[in-house]
Amino acid sequence: MRILITAGPTREYVDDVRFLSNASSGRMGYSIAAAAIAAGHEVILVTGPVDLPVPDGAKATQIETTDELRMSCLELFPRCDGVIATAAVCDYRPRERVQGKITKTGDPIVLELVETSDVLAELGQQKDHRWVVGFALESQDPRNNAMRKLRMKHCDCIVLNDTSAISSLENSVEILSPDAETLARFTGLKTKIARQLIEFIELEVAGP
Ligand code: CTP
Repeated sequence: MRILITAGPTREYVDDVRFLSNASSGRMGYSIAAAAIAAGHEVILVTGPVDLPVPDGAKATQIETTDELRMSCLELFPRCDGVIATAAVCDYRPRERVQGKITKTGDPIVLELVETSDVLAELGQQKDHRWVVGFALESQDPRNNAMRKLRMKHCDCIVLNDTSAISSLENSVEILSPDAETLARFTGLKTKIARQLIEFIELEVAGP
């Protein structure tokens, strides 16, 4: 299969030197990319800025902003069999990006934030015969929130993990179906979970 994988954080710039982002290490997405390549798949990786080497054999596109993630994914997804979306997308961006660097005045400033595009929801809408695997990072009411995202983004299944996964080498995930069934649970090193997830997708999501 040819698999699109999104990974790492996105950045939304306040001015030319400051941005909003999050602490995603990209480790889960990069481990999945490496596991998919080891299993004989072609991997198209669209990645935010992370401190990890691109896995050997992956075709990587480096992005910074959510808009860049969106443009790359919209271009690449039609040529893929499915997408695994692990990117920790920055959900808000400043309404205006100030040119240059904002100078201190001694007074408070107010940043007006607007929502960024939901990339996975857009891919889900145009998936046709392709499969879509989402990730959900939840700190409260995890199952209900994950199921809401699965439906909203037209996912074939969603991988639920909690916020302790951020920046950690380990993870504990539950895979939910569109009927809210638990299809699998994997715990341990992200590299091991990545291999199990690729096997699961081959057998249960992409079909025989
Ligand atoms: N995602 C995306 N584009 C966004 C937000 C999220 O493609 N603007 C993808 C993520 O890569 C992940 C899934 O959607 O596969 C769910 O991401 P998550 O951050 O858990 O949820 P959000 O939809 O951003 O909702 P919230 O932040 O309110 O929990």
